[in-house]
Amino acid sequence: MILIDGKKVAAELREELKKEVSNLKAKYNKTPGLTVILIGDMAPSQIYVRMKEKAANEVGLKSEVIKYPNEVEEKTVLDKIHELNKDDGVSGILVQLPLPKHIDKQKVIEKILPSKDVDGFHPMNVGNLSSGYDSSVPCTPLGCYLLIKKIEPNLSGKKAVVVGRSNLNGKPMTQLLLKENCTVTITHSKTKDLKEECLKGDIIVAAVGIPEFVRGDWVKKDAIVIDVGINKTEKGIVGDVAFDEVSKVAKALTPVPGGVGPMTIACLLKNTIECFKKSKKN
Ligand code: GUN
Repeated sequence: MILIDGKKVAAELREELKKEVSNLKAKYNKTPGLTVILIGDMAPSQIYVRMKEKAANEVGLKSEVIKYPNEVEEKTVLDKIHELNKDDGVSGILVQLPLPKHIDKQKVIEKILPSKDVDGFHPMNVGNLSSGYDSSVPCTPLGCYLLIKKIEPNLSGKKAVVVGRSNLNGKPMTQLLLKENCTVTITHSKTKDLKEECLKGDIIVAAVGIPEFVRGDWVKKDAIVIDVGINKTEKGIVGDVAFDEVSKVAKALTPVPGGVGPMTIACLLKNTIECFKKSKKN
C-alpha cells in the first residue's frame, strides 16, 4: 500500500511556489499578498490561521491577519473587505469560516472580489468551475486532486465516489474529477446502499466529518482513497476513513494527519499566487 505523504508533496509544492514568488518579485518588483480575516476566538480557526500565516511567510508572500472579536458588526467586516478589494497590495482575501451566527456568510463571501477569492467560494468562481472555465478552486479539493494525480496521472474513465456533498469539498471535488473525465458518483447522508456505491470506486474521496466512516469492506481492492476528515475523538485525531482496515485493501491512502491537511494550506498559497499573476495579465 502506498501511504500518500501529503506533508512531503506539500513541502515540494511550497518549494516550487517559493521560487515562483521570487521570480514574480524580480519581474514586477511587487510581492503577492494574502490577507486573512479571523473573527472570534475559536481554537481550531486560530490554529488554522496561524498555520496559513506561517506557510505564507515561508514562501515569501506578504501576509496579514486581521482579527475581530466575536461581536464585530457585519458591516465592519464588509467595509474591510471593500477596502481590501481596492488595495493593490492585496492579491488574495480569505475570511476564515465558520463565522459567528449574526454574520451572513454568503454576504461576506459575495463581497470578496472573485479575482481575489482565494477560497474559490464566490458564486462566480463556483459557476466558472462547474462550467469548466478558468476559476479559483477551493483549496482542500484542489489539494486532494493533486494527490490523486500523483498516484494516477491518467484518470480518464475511472469511477470516482465522493462521499459528502458540501460546498467546501464534495461539490468542487466532483467538478475537478469530472474535468479529468472520471465517472463521478456523489454520495451523502441520504444515499441508499452507500457501501455498495463505495465498492464501485476506483477512487474514493471521503469528506463527511464522521470518524472512521468508510470501512475496509466498502473499498474495492487497489482503490485510491483520499481522507479529508479531521475528527477529534477519544483516540485522538482520526479521519473519515477507518485507516487500519482500508490500508489492507487500498492501493494508496492518505493518513490523518499528514495527508490532505498540509496540501490545503499549500494550495491556498498557490491560489494567492495565481490571483496575483492574473491581476498582472489584465
Ligand atoms: N474553515 C475550514 N476550512 C476552510 C477553508 O477552506 N476556507 C475558509 N475560509 N475557512 C475554512
